[in-house]
Amino acid sequence: MKVSIIGAGNVGATCAEVIAYRSIASEVVLLDIKEKLAEGKATDMAQASNITGYNTKIVGSNNDYSLTANSDVVVITSGIPRKPGMTREELIGTNAGIVKSVVDNVLKHSPNAIIIVVSNPMDTMTYLAVKESKLPKNKIIGMGGILDSARFKFYLAKALNASAADVDGMVIGGHGDTTMIPVTRLATYRGVPVSQFLDAETLKKVASDTMVGGATLTAIIGTSAWYAPGAAVATLVDSILHDRKRLFPCSVYLEGEYGQKDICLGVPVIIGKNGWEKIVDIQLNKEEQELFNKSADAVRNMNNVLKEQNIVA
Ligand code: NAI
Ligand code: 2OP
Repeated sequence: MKVSIIGAGNVGATCAEVIAYRSIASEVVLLDIKEKLAEGKATDMAQASNITGYNTKIVGSNNDYSLTANSDVVVITSGIPRKPGMTREELIGTNAGIVKSVVDNVLKHSPNAIIIVVSNPMDTMTYLAVKESKLPKNKIIGMGGILDSARFKFYLAKALNASAADVDGMVIGGHGDTTMIPVTRLATYRGVPVSQFLDAETLKKVASDTMVGGATLTAIIGTSAWYAPGAAVATLVDSILHDRKRLFPCSVYLEGEYGQKDICLGVPVIIGKNGWEKIVDIQLNKEEQELFNKSADAVRNMNNVLKEQNIVA
């Protein structure tokens, strides 16, 4: 099983490392336009493999897409990340050009691949990948919700003074500071609604901390985070390659589900060997549906920038 990761920066390289450590794939190709970057990181990881004892073959590619041929999954992490004070949305112009050309190059060598989009603004870049690739919609998956849900669980566990392993919760909607929706009503502590343990004010604070979780780290580190993003993508790859049918919130192309169409937005989906295989309807209440619609409006505004700039028809 072969995975190619386009963009050997912080998120791409971390994702490659987690895939290798967990033996998720037999081969990982890391590709970057930055001279020798991917080759150097791949060699470093290959040398680590004989210390830590994993067998995944890691290949570095200096923008040579022939090395990515016949990939089962391709992850797109190429693009510029956020700097402190920047929104994900401000990345649109630069990253759209990169994602468009990457999708074209990838498909020349791996026409049957499932594509995971990570580059920001992720929902808009996923929409661009759907339009540009013309692949069946199930083969394009935007990753943001797994990461946001991990942050949600982190803040919930902190408030509960519990282990995050015992906490479950999901973030749907757009992958943006104001567009994501932590679904607090359905979050649980070992199956028990968190509202039994935390008051409304605390839950509101958990939700708002989650929403700015990425920005908080960007302000501290000086660029956006990579450990949790890389691990989140690797887990998504694992569910595809091993047909695990895991249920994750991912950005997928909607055609009426959750009341939205012609847009990619985070909803709960089953992930297996065919990509996203089914959208799960978690029956939003009126307030949640209103938030989802507002989130869709914001993402649609960004998608319109692609249309105004003739990047998509
Ligand atoms: P980074 O700057 O560390 O890495 C990006 C890499 O892409 C660089 O090495 C750069 O040389 C490469 N690149 C640029 N243009 C390319 C092209 N045309 N072909 C191949 N490689 C190219 O950035 P980082 O931190 O890895 O973030 C990558 C992207 O992922 C950013 O857009 C960031 O905002 C996004 N991101 C998304 C998350 C999500 O949950 N969806 C989470 C974290 C980051
Ligand atoms: C994050 O959420 C910036 O999307 C990136 O960390």
